[in-house]
Amino acid sequence: MVRLKDVARQAGVSITTVSHVVNQSRAVAPETRARVQRAIAALDYRPNTVARTLQSRRSRTIGMIVTSADNPFFSALIRGVEDHCFACGYSLVLCNADDVDAKQAAYLETLLERRIDGLIVMTSRNGPAFLEALNRQALPTVMLDAAATPRPDIAVVNDDSRLGARLAIEHLLAQGLEDIALLTGPADHPRSQERLAGARGALEAAGLRLPDDRLITTNLQADGGHGAMCALLKRGRRPQAVFAFNDLAAIGALRAAGASGLSLPGELSVIGYDDIDIGRYTCPALTTIHQPIYKLGATAIAQLIDRLEHDRPFDPITALPPRLVVRESVRQRQR
Ligand code: RIB
Repeated sequence: MVRLKDVARQAGVSITTVSHVVNQSRAVAPETRARVQRAIAALDYRPNTVARTLQSRRSRTIGMIVTSADNPFFSALIRGVEDHCFACGYSLVLCNADDVDAKQAAYLETLLERRIDGLIVMTSRNGPAFLEALNRQALPTVMLDAAATPRPDIAVVNDDSRLGARLAIEHLLAQGLEDIALLTGPADHPRSQERLAGARGALEAAGLRLPDDRLITTNLQADGGHGAMCALLKRGRRPQAVFAFNDLAAIGALRAAGASGLSLPGELSVIGYDDIDIGRYTCPALTTIHQPIYKLGATAIAQLIDRLEHDRPFDPITALPPRLVVRESVRQRQR
């Protein structure tokens, strides 16, 4: 194995100079730097990252625990994190926890053993085992999709889900659609709780209330939205519109409504949430609430690296604004 001293001998410089060139830890004269880089290439030298981590106590590695990369929402968000990591010279270790509390806690322990420098937690639901493990560790940490920070030194980056839900309901009401069913997420899902509060608030502001039988809990997956729509249509007394708390559930609901023979959106309107790319290709194309997904990821990692590189304090809570995206799946007001 080629070592620093072999490169130093080949370049005719000290081991310290080679170390400064490799770690970019001090300015080195261009001619000397070029000589060292030629020696590194000639000997095919590769720095020993384990030794460098132990010596510098920095691995330049970020750990990220995510609910599931299967949902296009999470993969787009991960892209925002990964691009910024790469641009700043950091590696990303990604763990899919599938919303399983014990798995999230186990992955956290694994990442801590890997000597990561910082942590991003994109898990929509956080059980007691994971929260206890999260509070035990002391790494700079940014959470996404969280209800509130479990600790003052943990930053949270979310979309403003209460506003997003209000925009969805106000759009439906503006089209004259007042009998609305909600396909929510699980009861312990913080973003779903926020969207339900925003939807209720918008309905009450219009003098309307939400009947209990117009509230259906889903798993925020396409199969959950499909099953919920089938159950809703089976009950009879069809609503005028359905607001699904994410696009995957909305797409499943669209499929069930279309397969039942309904004319969409004439006989039933559907609006989603997230604005994942596939929503523009459904038939009818999905009207939805756009979350700035890539920016959510980029904002979280930028804060984390700023903290690591410049010890800049976190912004405790960042709520990025959502916006309405009108396509075809909501009926236009009949003039
Ligand atoms: O589609 C996944 C959903 O879960 C998104 O709305 C995101 O906010 C997460 O909470």
